[in-house]
Amino acid sequence: MRQLALFALLPLLLVACADQQEAKTAQPDVNAGKAMAAAHCAGCHGLDGRGIAPGIPHLAAQVDEYLFASLVAYREGKRIHAALRDMTKQLSTKEMHDVVAFYSTLPPLEAKTDKKALTLSPYEKGKAATKVCASCHGEDGNATEPGMPSLAGQQPRYFVSALMAYLHGRRNISTMETMLRGLNPVDMEHMAIYYASQTPVRRGSPAVGDPAAGEPLTARCGGCHGAHGVSHDAMTPTLAGQDAQYLVSAIKSYRDQTRVHDVMLDDNTDQEIADIAAFYATQESKAAESGPVTVHELSAKCDRCHAPGIENPTMAIPKIHGQNRDYLIRALRAYRDGKRGSSLMHNMSLPYNEAIIESVASLYANQDAR
Ligand code: HEC
Ligand code: HEC
Ligand code: HEC
Ligand code: HEC
Repeated sequence: MRQLALFALLPLLLVACADQQEAKTAQPDVNAGKAMAAAHCAGCHGLDGRGIAPGIPHLAAQVDEYLFASLVAYREGKRIHAALRDMTKQLSTKEMHDVVAFYSTLPPLEAKTDKKALTLSPYEKGKAATKVCASCHGEDGNATEPGMPSLAGQQPRYFVSALMAYLHGRRNISTMETMLRGLNPVDMEHMAIYYASQTPVRRGSPAVGDPAAGEPLTARCGGCHGAHGVSHDAMTPTLAGQDAQYLVSAIKSYRDQTRVHDVMLDDNTDQEIADIAAFYATQESKAAESGPVTVHELSAKCDRCHAPGIENPTMAIPKIHGQNRDYLIRALRAYRDGKRGSSLMHNMSLPYNEAIIESVASLYANQDAR
């Protein structure tokens, strides 16, 4: 039975293959493609291949196999876009090859170069944004005033979530809340990457308890906060080297519910808290990030595939130099959020993904298309 079914299908399969084969080998008709583009695509992509509005990709000089694969992906619903899905359903394979041949053979577009966008990394933007914090949190996030938390080397996701907690009143500290009004999540990521890369300096504030008595009490804490309080989890704060008075007040704030969080242990006595704080305050700390990351370091990763002239026989790699910035941002978010499947694309689950996406998009958008 099964064999029979296969037999019946075989001719169909062969025909389908032959059809594809033919479409591939037949020379595409650039003039027919141009007429098609003028009638159906130019309203959005221009006849020169320039997207007419932010968020619409430039198609000029784009790799033809990539353009073709994109159209197929829209048609099959693997890339989601209602208008393009409807449109591609109307096009034959031949018409797709023609219109793609037209756009891919157009000359590359000129980009307006914005030098500032080329050179400013999230790290540098963060450094500039944290100037206003230095009066309390110290240069580079190493605070000196007793009771004031250091931010140097802190874990980035925790940093952002702490800012959000102040901003939304889940931590009731009005000085911080007023400081933070007007910051958006991308600004916060910039600051997070800057502080995470700073070397923490051990605090010299007076001890509040007995470190030796505190050490055994921290056995229950290490599973989350790391050995000796150096966290390796972006959501969990590093405690090592933090100011002892601040640690005391932070631990108590969970107990007293002025900070609300469901995972923290908060059943210690005042003396135990003082001893725990003394232990952590005297531990050697370590920065969450190894060092400042420039935009060019980030893009070096991408250029392994996307640099002009790189050809890969196994996959169609799009050109991204000179592409529309808003479109690049949309595309990268789509990969990150799993809305645009690609077997290899982009591990964007970094703590600073929005900041990095925006910087990398600016970098490529402001380079000449090639
Ligand atoms: C109504 C506006 C509109 C029209 C008309 C339109 N497009 Fe698009 N096109 C878009 C937008 C918006 C995107 C980006 C969608 C996304 O984010 O995936 C896009 C994406 C594409 C892409 C993917 C490019 C890339 O870099 O991944 C291709 C290829 C494409 N369009 C080809 C065409 C062709 C060929 C036509 C005409 C047959 C056409 N489009 C008509 C708006 C349009
Ligand atoms: C006027 C002094 C002051 C300024 C300026 C200030 N902060 Fe704070 N910040 C504090 C105090 C006090 C705390 C501790 C509050 C608490 O106990 O929850 C704090 C706590 C924090 C925390 C939580 C630390 C932790 O380990 O949980 C973060 C993150 C933070 N500040 C970031 C910032 C940033 C970013 C800026 C600049 C935009 C800034 N602060 C400016 C006084 C300040
Ligand atoms: C199940 C994981 C977990 C355990 C166990 C745990 N913590 Fe935490 N701790 C966290 C997380 C997550 C946060 C961040 C909470 C927030 O966002 O307010 C935190 C926050 C803190 C803070 C605030 C740091 C700052 O910079 O403001 C201190 C202090 C702290 N923990 C101490 C301890 C101590 C001491 C213990 C052991 C008695 C402990 N924690 C056990 C997960 C844990
Ligand atoms: C291993 C090779 C490889 C690396 C490394 C790589 N890419 Fe890609 N990239 C691809 C391929 C292949 C596609 C096409 C995937 C698809 O069909 O959606 C793509 C697609 C894209 C697109 C969509 C372009 C468009 O026109 O829609 C953008 C934007 C992009 N990559 C940016 C980046 C950035 C930024 C980095 C570095 C953080 C990067 N890529 C690293 C191979 C790579």
